[in-house]
Amino acid sequence: MSVLIDRIGELVTNDPELGEGPLGIVRNAALVLDGDRVAWVGPAGRAPAADERYDADGRAVLPGFVDSHAHLVFAGERAEEFAARMSGRPYSAGGIRTTVAATRAATDDELRAGLRRLVDEMARQGTTTVECKSGYGLTVADEERAVRLAAEIADEVTFLGAHVVPPEYAGDPDAYVRLVTGEMLAACAPHARWIDVFCERGAFDADQTRAVLAAGVRAGLVPRVHAGQLGPGPGVALAVEFGAASADHCTFLTDADVAALAGSETVATLLPGVEFSTRQPYPDARRLIDAGVTVALATDCNPGSCYTSSMPLCIALAVREMRMTPAEAVRAATAGGARALRRTDVGRLGTGARADVQVLDAASHLHLAYRPGVPLVTAVWKSGRRVEG
Ligand code: NIG
Ligand code: FE
Repeated sequence: MSVLIDRIGELVTNDPELGEGPLGIVRNAALVLDGDRVAWVGPAGRAPAADERYDADGRAVLPGFVDSHAHLVFAGERAEEFAARMSGRPYSAGGIRTTVAATRAATDDELRAGLRRLVDEMARQGTTTVECKSGYGLTVADEERAVRLAAEIADEVTFLGAHVVPPEYAGDPDAYVRLVTGEMLAACAPHARWIDVFCERGAFDADQTRAVLAAGVRAGLVPRVHAGQLGPGPGVALAVEFGAASADHCTFLTDADVAALAGSETVATLLPGVEFSTRQPYPDARRLIDAGVTVALATDCNPGSCYTSSMPLCIALAVREMRMTPAEAVRAATAGGARALRRTDVGRLGTGARADVQVLDAASHLHLAYRPGVPLVTAVWKSGRRVEG
């Protein structure tokens, strides 16, 4: 089954060899999807024939968003906690335990339905690649279940047994780290590609983070780290030391952290929805970009620190609050996310890329930041299959 997307006003390819600027913009373009791949990119009116034609009528077409950080296997919600925060109570990692209790009590089908609902909600907003973490089970069986369910539905699966120390191990956190790095890792690694740790005061310290990442690497997983969310700490340095694909949050960074990221292959994944939803200061993306760090944007969709699934919201916040240009934010939400997941097949639109495409009801990518809160995504294909519009 092939689809011709014709009369594209502005095509964002993310390939500077295909078009103008860092977004590789081609004007008056057409795109042919064949099965799950992009088969042809070129000027409108010259495209080869296809089974179906979609008339973009001068609109902007972009690669689907790559949301490289989300926690979607959970039950319940924490709206009251959000309301309390908006009345001045600070965010604390302690709320995670509320979701852990609800998640443990849920059936597989309930968790699957919740995950499916969020992945569909994301697709309607242009997200075609989703990373999903465990971390609300925190027993061997509950974590194994979380990564197994995530692998059914999400594109990328991350084992986050080291999210917080569960109440039953409160008196002996190191025993919990031994469980995570032993039996729990053995049960979860077959379903996951990534190992993650919440390296933060109140969660896991440097030694514990090091133990978890090292065990994950021995089990064949690739590191990524929750780092510098609530205050400066050792997370970024450890992420770089372990060659992590990404250090996520990066809200509080020292100059040494920025220099370490700049000299590494580790992406800084910024999650502005978290700062929005926890009333924290936003990270300074400009400082990172100017130092030469690759930046990704992601939602961190979860019931506690940020319950948005909207990449357009993250783009708008990044532009308004984090000193990113609209083009930088769009690139970070597509190619940046792909880099954070070490994927070369998504986050771009060129021949051979995965057929993940979104059409905006607007003439340009600028409108994603220029028209905040407006549902601009009007048609979406994921792996060549129409999922919206
Ligand atoms: O990335 N920081 C740790 N984990 C999540 C929050 C999870 C929760 O509050 O339920 C985050 O912000
Ligand atoms: Fe997170």
